[in-house]
Amino acid sequence: MQPSPATTAPTPASQEALSRLLGLAIFGERLAARTYNQCSRLEPRHAELLKRFATMEGRHARWFLEVSQANGVVPDKAFADRELGYLEEQVDAYAAAGDVEALLVVQGFIVESLAIATYEPFLAVSDRFVGAREAFQKALDEEHYHVDWVIRYLRLHFFDQDERFLELARRVNVQGVDCIGGTLMNIADHLDAIGLSGADSAGAMMDGYTGLLERVGIDERLATRDVVSLFMPLIRKYRHGREATA
Ligand SMILES: [Fe+2]
Ligand SMILES: [Fe+2]
Repeated sequence: MQPSPATTAPTPASQEALSRLLGLAIFGERLAARTYNQCSRLEPRHAELLKRFATMEGRHARWFLEVSQANGVVPDKAFADRELGYLEEQVDAYAAAGDVEALLVVQGFIVESLAIATYEPFLAVSDRFVGAREAFQKALDEEHYHVDWVIRYLRLHFFDQDERFLELARRVNVQGVDCIGGTLMNIADHLDAIGLSGADSAGAMMDGYTGLLERVGIDERLATRDVVSLFMPLIRKYRHGREATA
């Protein structure tokens, strides 16, 4: 990929922010690749496609690593490991239990939603970083493609079983959203340092997530109620966390 030139000189704060955000993106993408590989093992009817998704996620990780290198930044692996630890444990437990439905909800809803909710706003400031626009735009397009497929799969799989699907989504999200909520709080200052807002990302994630439930076939009111109750601890934690450090 031909990197685009940076337009604004980096500051130490923006470099540190980039190191953490790219660390999260790179290791998050590697986790996504692993999750799709596990899904391909557990869902043989779609194994080829799921393996292709895993390859695409691996490629996103590589593009983001190239962005790090082009901007003289070392991705913060320790930070990413800490933030992604809960999700990784969750993925490993579902994979060991052969629970492909739960794996697809973690990946298709939580991981893809977080990626979309951060990559999309990042595009607005991406020209400040060498090569970032191309990498994030291409990855974002492919994340939408993955989400579209997961939604279609879940729609067919849970056709006329709204309650069973909501139960699964709640079960998976209790742990997953908590992890993502903590992560959004922990990266809030870094998002600010590059001109983004943690609150906006959390809002975008909530909004996107409600849309996903609706697309699986859940009634709009029911989806909103469910998402608000799921994200309420995150909103409270976020507000109180910000007030405590203000
Ligand atoms: Fe990705
Ligand atoms: Fe994806």
